[in-house]
Amino acid sequence: MAETREAVAGRMNDEPAGELVLPNGQTTESLKHKDLLGIEHLDVEEIRLILETAQHLKEISRRAIKKVPTLRGKSVINLFFEPSTRTRTSFEIAAKRLSADTQSISASTSAVVKGETLIDTARNIEAMFPDLLVIRHACPGAAKILADTCSAGVINAGDGAHEHPTQALLDALTIRDFKGEIEGLRVVIFGDIAHSRVARSNIHCLRKLGADVVVAAPPTFLPYDVEALGVEAHHRLEPALEGADVVMALRIQLERGGKLSFPSSREYFNLFGLSRERLALAKEDAIVMHPGPMNRGVEIASDVADGPSSVILEQVSNGLAVRMAVLYLLAGSGAAKNVEAAA
Ligand code: CP
Repeated sequence: MAETREAVAGRMNDEPAGELVLPNGQTTESLKHKDLLGIEHLDVEEIRLILETAQHLKEISRRAIKKVPTLRGKSVINLFFEPSTRTRTSFEIAAKRLSADTQSISASTSAVVKGETLIDTARNIEAMFPDLLVIRHACPGAAKILADTCSAGVINAGDGAHEHPTQALLDALTIRDFKGEIEGLRVVIFGDIAHSRVARSNIHCLRKLGADVVVAAPPTFLPYDVEALGVEAHHRLEPALEGADVVMALRIQLERGGKLSFPSSREYFNLFGLSRERLALAKEDAIVMHPGPMNRGVEIASDVADGPSSVILEQVSNGLAVRMAVLYLLAGSGAAKNVEAAA
């Protein structure tokens, strides 16, 4: 007989560090990599394992005492070389909820400002024996460089316009919460696709889970080969929105050159902003998502962002559960073993 969610939660609370077994019998062995660098190279079982684990871990954040001993004795270091509110905070809280020791380092307060290279920084951090490194960096591939250099597990918290895997996983968890199955849903991602790591990770994740992914953007915001990723592409928002189950707005990535691609914010909103009138083209029960940070009145109207279809804050809550799951699945298995093997 399947265990109830309450029974699983109770068991998690009592378990010794690193020995959580999911109700379906899967263990930490099922995540095949020491690192989480992107969605592209995950298989669908690994994606499902992370989502199932996150689903079970959600409950911890609703307790009066929001802490379990699962990662006691493990240490997580966050290296953020780009600004972040949601990702950085939720990784820090996630590590604390699992009883890991955590430390955050920003570019502005690190020796990078004195000319130290990323690899030297990583080697020096690793000399302090962390179990996991979480990195956000403007350079695509920065997380891979760290993963190839360090024996600790590395989690990509966003590398340039390449990937942002935990964002796609939290988006998938949110879609599943509101729509049940992801397979067969029409998911529209619109805005600055060309400069967006969120779009790339979501396209990989949602396609692997069986969604029909549609992208819409002015031609200057669409990669020329976007259809090779298996998506339907539009240069206008209206035809993309027709019959949509999920509508995901993206910010213009000003820091990655996005501002050069359109005349003004007002013109962009008139042509491509998600207004109530445009949202009415989607299904009546369509949900509206945004990874944040939002630019109200540019890619999304305030009354849509705060309206009944919006699940934007639920995405943030799910981000915490997904990051707890990823920390647990990596620190409880591959990364820990690797460090032990190297010792
Ligand atoms: N979605 C996201 O990555 O937000 P932050 O930049 O605030 O982390």
